[in-house]
Amino acid sequence: MSTTHQDGPRGSVRVIELPVVSDTRGDLTFVESRRHVPFDIARVYYLYNVPVDAERGGHAHLELQQVLFALSGSFRVSVDDGFETSQHWLRDPRKGLLIDRMIWREMDSFSQGAVCMVLASHPYDEADYIREHRAFLEKVREGAA
Ligand code: TYD
Repeated sequence: MSTTHQDGPRGSVRVIELPVVSDTRGDLTFVESRRHVPFDIARVYYLYNVPVDAERGGHAHLELQQVLFALSGSFRVSVDDGFETSQHWLRDPRKGLLIDRMIWREMDSFSQGAVCMVLASHPYDEADYIREHRAFLEKVREGAA
């Protein structure tokens, strides 16, 4: 898995590693707002029954921060801050990908039975989405100017 981290006006993407408590009964991982993720968790959603050839995402958010986890199986996340792109394979339920505001993301290559859980900083709001890549790039470059 590759990681990138940028400071300044550009949104950042980084891997968050959660604690695990393991014994002969299996593994237990937990996550707490502001301790393991840098925001108050306002919403949790998950993707499942995803066809292996499906593409999800294809948008950025004005304010929303999210952390993505592969609770089961694996999938690829491609991110774009308007200047650089990177790809991250999620396959370890302990490792989440923190995606800041103003990052374009696409998810694909879901394995059979993959489950993607997302922790989100805000309730669902369609007005927070930027669903056109061209509009995303314009907005990023406005902010960087
Ligand atoms: P979308 O965010 O585009 O999915 P993805 O990025 O995973 O491909 O959402 C797909 C649809 O589900 C869209 O009609 C909005 C709806 N939706 C909700 O109603 N609530 C939610 O919390 C989310 C994430 C999506």
